[in-house]
Amino acid sequence: MTEADRVPAGINPNVPSVARMYDYYLGGRDNFAADREAAEKMIELGRQMGNDAREIALANRGFLGRAVRMLAEAGVRQFLDIGAGLPTQDNVHQVARRHGPGSRVVYVDNDPVVLTHARALLAREPDVLAMEGDLRDPVAILDDPRVTGHLDLGEPFAVLLVAVLHFVPDDAEAAQIVALIRERLRPGGYLVLSHLYAGDATAHETETGRQVYRNTSSGGLASRGYADIVSYFDGLDLLGPGVVPVADWTPDASPDGSYDLVKSGILAGVGRVKG
Ligand SMILES: C[S@@+](CC[C@H](N)C(=O)[O-])C[C@H]1O[C@@H](n2cnc3c(N)ncnc32)[C@H](O)[C@@H]1O
Repeated sequence: MTEADRVPAGINPNVPSVARMYDYYLGGRDNFAADREAAEKMIELGRQMGNDAREIALANRGFLGRAVRMLAEAGVRQFLDIGAGLPTQDNVHQVARRHGPGSRVVYVDNDPVVLTHARALLAREPDVLAMEGDLRDPVAILDDPRVTGHLDLGEPFAVLLVAVLHFVPDDAEAAQIVALIRERLRPGGYLVLSHLYAGDATAHETETGRQVYRNTSSGGLASRGYADIVSYFDGLDLLGPGVVPVADWTPDASPDGSYDLVKSGILAGVGRVKG
């Protein structure tokens, strides 16, 4: 089968998809030439900056797994994963169920290829739902009858925004999205978030990365500063080490200020609704 045969109907493989680029960083095979080309540009940019894009993507996945495991062990049984990405190893529902039997998961993504793959994987998984939705309209997601039919949003649930909010380039819009989501979390609910961090990137490096993503399915990319990323957890109790580089986030790490916040990369945190 050639690569062209693998292109699902209605998909333009010539427009790089951020989901498939991420799959490429992770070493997956669900990507096309245009995705690999764009991802290679980012890998090269990272190299020039002393970063390893693939390592960062894998570390982000590691964070996701540790955070979901911690929540499942703490008794969380409902997960709303927005910007879920292509299925890979240790997907959220697998980790959640391993550590929290009976966990219910809704995967949301705006990339139709993600949905095609997720539905195939989840065909025989009654407690897991995959649906198309856009993070830029979080209220539509939270009010969608498929979500409210699958999760009891009157009970504590966790929202996962892992490596997705940076695809909303407008700062005010990104802040508003997270504020709307925080408003809907119940006491005992959680926000799990990771985000591209500007760190020591020069204006030229930032712009080069932005340009690559301007021509992808997301249409843009915004790395942000430490204070911006911390502000997404306003009003929540930050767990573990606080907001730190994604590889350093573990539930039992302490907020002792020993983290490298100079280097660009991805920062991550987990916040819990007080009460
Ligand atoms: C870098 S991947 C992250 C996947 C997964 N959350 C993880 O961290 O391993 C970003 C995902 O967010 C999705 N995405 C980007 N913008 C989105 C939006 N506005 N609404 C929903 N999903 C979006 C992409 O299609 C992609 O699957």
